[in-house]
Amino acid sequence: MCGIVGYIGARQAQGVLVSGLAKLEYRGYDSAGVAILDHGSIQVRKKAGKLANLGAELAEHPLAGTLGIGHTRWATHGLPNDTNAHPHATEDGRIVIIHNGIIENYLSLKAELRARGHEFKSETDSEVLAHLIEEKYAQTGSDLYEAVRLSLGEVRGAYGIVVTHADHREIVAARTVSPLVMGVGEGEMFLASDVPALLPYTRRMVFLHDGDMVVLSDSGYRVTDLQGRAVTRQIDQIDWDAEAAEKGGFDTYMLKEIYEQPTALTNTLIGRLNDDSGEVNLDINLDPSSFKRISIIACGTAYLAGLVGEYLIEQLARIPVEVDVASEYRYRDPLVSEHTLAIVISQSGETIDTLEALREAKKGGAKTLGVINAKGSSMTRELDDTLYIHAGPEIGVASTKAYTSMVGAMLMLALWLARARGTLSEAQAKELLSAARELPRLVEEALSPQRVAQIKVVAEKYAHARDYLFLGRGVNAPTALEGALKLKEISYIHAEGYAAGEMKHGPIALIDENLPVVVVATQSRLLEKTISNVQEVRARAGKVILLLSDGDTENAQHADDVIYVPRSHEMVSPIVNVVALQLLSYFTATALGKDVDKPRNLAKSVTVE
Ligand code: F6R
Repeated sequence: MCGIVGYIGARQAQGVLVSGLAKLEYRGYDSAGVAILDHGSIQVRKKAGKLANLGAELAEHPLAGTLGIGHTRWATHGLPNDTNAHPHATEDGRIVIIHNGIIENYLSLKAELRARGHEFKSETDSEVLAHLIEEKYAQTGSDLYEAVRLSLGEVRGAYGIVVTHADHREIVAARTVSPLVMGVGEGEMFLASDVPALLPYTRRMVFLHDGDMVVLSDSGYRVTDLQGRAVTRQIDQIDWDAEAAEKGGFDTYMLKEIYEQPTALTNTLIGRLNDDSGEVNLDINLDPSSFKRISIIACGTAYLAGLVGEYLIEQLARIPVEVDVASEYRYRDPLVSEHTLAIVISQSGETIDTLEALREAKKGGAKTLGVINAKGSSMTRELDDTLYIHAGPEIGVASTKAYTSMVGAMLMLALWLARARGTLSEAQAKELLSAARELPRLVEEALSPQRVAQIKVVAEKYAHARDYLFLGRGVNAPTALEGALKLKEISYIHAEGYAAGEMKHGPIALIDENLPVVVVATQSRLLEKTISNVQEVRARAGKVILLLSDGDTENAQHADDVIYVPRSHEMVSPIVNVVALQLLSYFTATALGKDVDKPRNLAKSVTVE
């Protein structure tokens, strides 16, 4: 995702900005740019592609000046080209901004700004910010801070925004959802979207909170909220080494990524759901009413996201869906026609089995849509259209945030298809859309310190089990499969995931007093049936670990251990529930001393058959 760097001080800004952006490369990007203030004018250099392209441009046309801002862009709105790269400037070049996040209401703002005579150069959502700030700047009698503050009052969405003006030796920044950290130096100040960019310069850092604004000058900084009231933020002394910094202070990438899920989900959903109108805007150039069947194709965890997708699409849009593991699909001579929509799901966009399956579906005449994380990956070049999940780079081999974002994307697709096909009333759509919009908050709640501590206790209690069984029903049957997959991947404990009702047809033979059985038994129309399956486990002395919705004390009596999860609408509950299972696997593996980021025999991107 986008990277941000800002500098004001005595050093030449160009070097600070480029070295900072290089430290943020791991976040993923497809263009880069800098803007530097010198003698009352701001010069911009920006280039599509790798940072080396920007480096070459700066080598040929270097920029002098000691105040500047820099950006690496991961395209969301508009192609990854030179024009859409940040920074973005007003027509007169006096105000220059960089932005990380998505401005949800940019289309209406853009139309209004155009009507008032503003000319836009790029296709980005971000550029509206520059023009909006320009208007407010004039209205406030040239007060840059106030102009930014008033502008942010008119935008909806997520932002880490950094603004400069040719007439002011200061940098104004603000954040909501997108991260921003400030570095406090001696007579110099820094900003970045992540700590590694700042480590070579200072270890004194202020982590800005949601809704914080900050003004940086040569003499220091001041922080306010979006209402303009002063706030105090403590300065932390960061003693992480470079690797720890990339892990954001967490012990592992996997844990960092588990905690990134509220933000990742926000980025997946943002700008795409309108719970006022019940509409879903996915910007997909395919006709949702032209399909008679849907094939979902993927591998591993992405396949399990597909199983949730099958449930959601069939329930909401009433279209027949089949889900295949890609390695089987490509060799089973599948029935495909021009009325088939093939949806491939992949974090990396490079998994060879999925890529070959996509080609197979295309050969049969299917229209193809990708649910993909990695921009510009091989699959995206062959798909008819792509719905990016915007989860940000996932480095831990075991997929966590990509999974929840994939399920979020499948939910949006189900709603999009349902609305187009008229299988969901506006009222039903609004209810589901508002349940979806609650997801980042619910996942945040699922990661509260008390819940995490409790899951750690349960994980450690059963860490020496030889086998594990995971059960769930309905839309949470795939949650059980994902719980089992996560556990075996990182702890090497043998685990089976089953639809709970299927247990009596085989796996029940495994049950004895040594077998922990995790049952997803959160609020749903199948809860009573699930509890009957729990009784079958108890009757055979299995150890029952129940995942229950907050407040369900009645069913707690059937469990040896209970993990409570936040209550959520049944249709969105797989996203909330799986977080507890990710943590259960994580703490089991760490209790056993396993390397969770690089489990044995596994690769992050499987590009061999
Ligand atoms: C499991 C995991 C793998 C991947 C699978 C597909 O935690 O990460 O099972 O889900 O290899 O990878 P992508 O999504 O990159 O196609």
